[in-house]
Amino acid sequence: MTTYPRTTHLMQRGAEFFGSQYAILCGAMSWVSERHLVSAISNAGGFGVIACGAMTPALLDAEITATKALAKAPFGVNLITMHPQLFDLIDVCVRHGVSHVVLAGGIPPKGSVEAIKAGTADKPGAKVICFAPTLALAKKLLRSGADAMVIEGSEAGGHIGPVSTSVLAQEILPNLASEALVFVAGGIGRGEAIAGYLEMGAAGVQLGTRFACATESIAHANFKKAFFRASARDAVASVQVDPRLPVIPVRALKNKGTEAFTAKQLEVARALDEDGIAMDEAQLQIEHYWAGALRRAVIDGDVEGGSLMAGQSVGMVTQEEPVADIIATLMAECETALDRR
Ligand SMILES: Cc1cc2nc3c(=O)[nH]c(=O)nc-3n(C[C@H](O)[C@H](O)[C@H](O)COP(=O)(O)O)c2cc1C
Repeated sequence: MTTYPRTTHLMQRGAEFFGSQYAILCGAMSWVSERHLVSAISNAGGFGVIACGAMTPALLDAEITATKALAKAPFGVNLITMHPQLFDLIDVCVRHGVSHVVLAGGIPPKGSVEAIKAGTADKPGAKVICFAPTLALAKKLLRSGADAMVIEGSEAGGHIGPVSTSVLAQEILPNLASEALVFVAGGIGRGEAIAGYLEMGAAGVQLGTRFACATESIAHANFKKAFFRASARDAVASVQVDPRLPVIPVRALKNKGTEAFTAKQLEVARALDEDGIAMDEAQLQIEHYWAGALRRAVIDGDVEGGSLMAGQSVGMVTQEEPVADIIATLMAECETALDRR
């Protein structure tokens, strides 16, 4: 069996935290991160995370049950904070004894972190991982009970913040990595980059784009083909057309769907003016749009009208490979880079 002594040494804290062999998370990807990919990641030594997205509590319940049947190692669940049934989804995770819950999409609402950690009389509660866009917020989230942080730069696929991974890592890791577990995400396609972030103090890394087209991923063949053909410059961030509508930018491969999103924003802005809908409702409509568009691309293979969410590392995704091979490649590249130092 191949070993990666330098890498596993630097990943030790992160791997212990997740109960995995390696501190490599596959970030939750709506529609993509379901039972097959999640269990494959965890079974290959990484840490898989189910993307709850817009699922109902009943659907999440079924997905966790199915993933448990396939996974021989721990996996987590990613919940979106603005989901209207967030607390019911938390109950589902607690009832299943899910070990780790990732809260994404905004600041966790009051009581959510506590509810995840409290568990029940016979279930211990889960560890909570949050996204930290700034050092100040990372410290606040840790004080509020978060057990670990993910810092995700704007190179990432899906919903993104404004700051690049390299800058976030420089701002946050030297100040926080000795006292807290920080995982770096966004734009990681090769092990050399993992080596760099581990040396800066990261407890591990999170990748999405690199795993989206794995053999075990249920993404449609058309979706995968679009990834194999694309280069970094094709993965562009969406633009906000109305300053009143605080849409979170999304990074995806350029296609007709990119233009359709501009039209959708204009439609929602008009509803704000003419139908008097509330801002919360407007934002929810935008998020529903993305969930539907991503489903059309991932599940139906509509690569023209659907959303091909992808990070800038997409150019490093050139063929379908089993998850275990991708992880082995990343670990070997990281180990070689550390050996050269
Ligand atoms: C197709 C796709 C869907 C995604 N969906 C979600 C999601 O539902 N929730 C979430 O927290 N992050 C989501 N992400 C972000 C990933 O979890 C991960 O953080 C990101 O892909 C890491 O950056 P990378 O793409 O550069 O590897 C998504 C990313 C992609 C590519």
